[in-house]
Order: sequence, then structure tokens, then C-alpha cells
Amino acid sequence: MTQVFAHRGYSAAFSENTMTSFIEAEKTGCDGLEMDVQLTKDGEVVVIHDEKVDRTTSGTGFVKDFTYKELRNLNANKMGVKKEPIPSLEELLEWLQSNKLICNIEFKNGIIRYEGMEEKVIELVRKYGLTDRIVFSSFNHYSIVHSFRHAPEIETAPLYSEGLYMPWIYAQSIRAGGIHPKYTVAPDEIIKQAMENGIAVRPYTVNKDADMLRLFKVGCTAFITDDPIKALRIRKQFEKRP
Ligand code: G3P
Ligand code: CA
Repeated sequence: MTQVFAHRGYSAAFSENTMTSFIEAEKTGCDGLEMDVQLTKDGEVVVIHDEKVDRTTSGTGFVKDFTYKELRNLNANKMGVKKEPIPSLEELLEWLQSNKLICNIEFKNGIIRYEGMEEKVIELVRKYGLTDRIVFSSFNHYSIVHSFRHAPEIETAPLYSEGLYMPWIYAQSIRAGGIHPKYTVAPDEIIKQAMENGIAVRPYTVNKDADMLRLFKVGCTAFITDDPIKALRIRKQFEKRP
């Protein structure tokens, strides 16, 4: 059964990468979450997508220039009325202990390297005993290899957005357990061959009915969507087909 991962939480209906969006995603009955992590000035791992806080919070400036305490004063709930802070990864991992969700942590370190971020994240994942429910991904494949070297027990998956030739061979070469392609560069044949070669495939960000249906039909490992409610409804219909 193709798993459904909620992209930045249930971001179609709630402010992305907030505790509310993760809690609401869990309530939908989805299988997993996707989220982005970066480091504050004083080295706290926080859950936010952009390098700057401008788009998703009440503040302005780079995440790396805020202390954790300063960052927590910003309001990350732009879609709602109640003030809500940017979550720390620790807060999120602690909450994950209350459920069974799989968690895809994307290292957002393509533009700013955030030296030592992988080690901090690994330490937290181990502290909360979640190593078998975490998948690390990144567009920065050096980071993927770096995290594998430090924590071979945690699955890694490179993100990519353009055609990669025989991506399962590449994944195997960097000891990744999966690949996370943009859905437009994940045709059925690539999905099938990667999975036959033991590589999990979780395309992003799949929001249209027809694209979801295609991935259910091909039996893709999982996909990442902003709208888990829609994905689960389509999965249910697909499973009930004669
Ligand atoms: O992890 C899949 C997807 O989230 C990658 O793109 O920009 O949404 O982080 P982006
Ligand atoms: Ca992401």
C-alpha cells in the first residue's frame, strides 16, 4: 500500500511546518510527515523551510541570525489566528513518541551549509529512540552521505528534481535506502525498477488527483503531498475498485 506523507504537515489547510500542521496531519490518518530543518545562531535545530523567516513568520531576516529564544517570539501561524512559534526539532520528536508516524526530515542545507547540523539531528533522533521511523533527505547529497557515515542505521534518500539516469544505481552507490524525486521526473518505469532493486521511492509534491492515482496504481512506496485528506480519499477509492 502506497504510504501518504504530509508535506510540511497538513500544509494545504494549516500553516506549514507548525506543530498544528503536524498534529492535524496525524489526525487525518496519514502514514508520515515531511519537514525541513535549519540551525539558529546558537545551534538549535528548528523546523522551517526557507533560509529567511520572512515568508512564513511575522519576522524578517535569516534563521541563522536569530538565537532560538528570539526566533520563538515570531509568529509562524500565518494561516490561523492563534500565535504559534516555529517548532524546535526536539519538540517535534518528543511529540512523535505519542504516535506511530514515519518522519522524513529534510536537511535544508543547500544554500547555507549549517556545519554540524546532521550530527545534532542524529543525536536527537537517537535520544528519542526514533531511528527506525526517520528518513533523512536533502538536495545536498554530500549531506546525505555525511549523515549515513554518522548514522548508518537511519535511512537516507537524495532529493532531486531533474532526470537522473538509473537513480537506483546512484542511490545504492551512496548507500541510500530511497530516492525522493520530483513527481514529474518519476515515471512508472523508474519507480518500478528502483523498487525492484530495493530502493524506496517517495515522489514530491503530489497534489493532483490524476498524479496520486498513477502512484497508487504503480504501487509506489509513498508520496509526499500538501493534502493528505485528498490522498487518503483517493487511496480508499482505489483500494475498493472491483
Ligand atoms: O521533501 C520533498 C520536498 O519538500 C522538497 O522540496 O522545497 O518543498 O522542501 P521543498
Ligand atoms: Ca521539504
